[in-house]
Amino acid sequence: MKAQVREEKKQYEFVSIDTASPCNARCIFCFNDWANIKGAIMPPEVFQKTLPLLDMTGYDGFYVSCLFEPTLNPDFCRILQMMPESGRNKAFFTTNLVKKLSDEDLLAFSKANLDHINISLETYDQALYDRLTGTKGSHFYENLERLGVLAKENGMKLRLITMILKSNIDELPELIKRAKNELSPVRHELRTPYYFKASKEQMDIAESELLMRKELDVKGKALLNAAGDDDNIIIDLSNDLESFVKKRSEDFDTHVTSFAERPGSANFRVRIESDGTGHFGHRIETKELFDLHDIKDPKQYFNDALIRLQALEASNYFLGELSEKKKSLFSFAKKKEKGVAAFLTFPVEVSDLRFPSSLDEAVLYDGRFLHISGWEASSAKNNVASEERLFLIKDKERFLAFRPFSVKRPDVASALSDESLENSGFYCVIDTKGLSRVEELSLYCAIISGEKLTAFELASV
Ligand SMILES: C[S@@+](CC[C@H](N)C(=O)[O-])C[C@H]1O[C@@H](n2cnc3c(N)ncnc32)[C@H](O)[C@@H]1O
Ligand code: SF4
Repeated sequence: MKAQVREEKKQYEFVSIDTASPCNARCIFCFNDWANIKGAIMPPEVFQKTLPLLDMTGYDGFYVSCLFEPTLNPDFCRILQMMPESGRNKAFFTTNLVKKLSDEDLLAFSKANLDHINISLETYDQALYDRLTGTKGSHFYENLERLGVLAKENGMKLRLITMILKSNIDELPELIKRAKNELSPVRHELRTPYYFKASKEQMDIAESELLMRKELDVKGKALLNAAGDDDNIIIDLSNDLESFVKKRSEDFDTHVTSFAERPGSANFRVRIESDGTGHFGHRIETKELFDLHDIKDPKQYFNDALIRLQALEASNYFLGELSEKKKSLFSFAKKKEKGVAAFLTFPVEVSDLRFPSSLDEAVLYDGRFLHISGWEASSAKNNVASEERLFLIKDKERFLAFRPFSVKRPDVASALSDESLENSGFYCVIDTKGLSRVEELSLYCAIISGEKLTAFELASV
């Protein structure tokens, strides 16, 4: 390997937990489909089993509560107190503050030493609040005021989330200023609603509250003005009525992108429901489900799962190895869509030709999974639709083949003033289990053209 190999420990991108899955509100914009949600409360002893995950995730990565309403768990304060001090700065929760909260509760929230607390704030108008949240004269404003004071006293950071809707958009410039004065949020995110999957009823309501692109362009300006140059205010105007209607006419589910459409390192996520069941997701398709009740040693389980997930990710890049019987032939089961495996054989021709290339980064995760990225000009130069770019790793006498992802590299194209290098980037993950030391491996870029496979040793420029 030419590049310096950096060693890292893989972490989960984030762990999203819910400790209570009912909700005491019915916000008209909410993406939750309540008809299909069974409310469950997670007891503290089950939550205890999620705690090893604190060490396996990074900054802002541990969602103590995410999709539902945590204050409905009668043990929520105890749950917060169970968290080890050392990991609390990675954690946060999101609440609607609708339930009447005692001074003790609010004090416990403000002293929990979490990274922050997210609060949903749609309007300062009580009647509109009731209509938008499906509540009646709730304790929201009173809770908000008391928590604001306690958070300041105890150094707890608050973040706000505000939906941008037809009903409240005219109030939002004023709301931004008032919230800033009264609550000093470290972040205030204003967003147009998005949906993962929506019932007919949700869709109908969404259509009445989403703004058209033209309206967002005009009224959005007032929001941007109110935000001024305050970087803590984030305004997301991306979801308009037109795109929602278009999406609605298709199937929401079809928007799940496949692994092959997501180049780059997979970010593994853990999702844990309030009934203790869970799964791993995002950027890697795995059917593995778990139930915390059945897991005896969660630290071991989640550590092992990270290795399994990485092995699964790497298997998406691996094609096969040189057939031992025909040493001069390179053969591999060509993994194809629809599960059909066509067996191909090629003579390997190692070429002395040198193309400009660069191995920008090589990171070895958990001593086993090698992520390489960079660019190379051979396939870009010979950019013919029928050609395929592979990587070969030579380990002692055998070749192993991998299919890298292509990555756009406009920076390379512009630095070398060569437009053909626009698609010269690559990303590949290699499971080195059973191979020699990473430093002893040779890396080749191989181009299959027709019946011929030519391998070029990947050189640094
Ligand atoms: C689903 S809620 C759960 C937490 C809590 N019940 C609350 O509302 O604060 C999490 C956050 O998502 C926001 N949210 C709800 N529906 C949304 C949607 N359709 N699009 C974007 N954000 C949404 C809420 O305003 C809230 O800030
Ligand atoms: S409070 Fe949160 S979870 Fe409950 S309905 Fe509103 S957005 Fe959804």
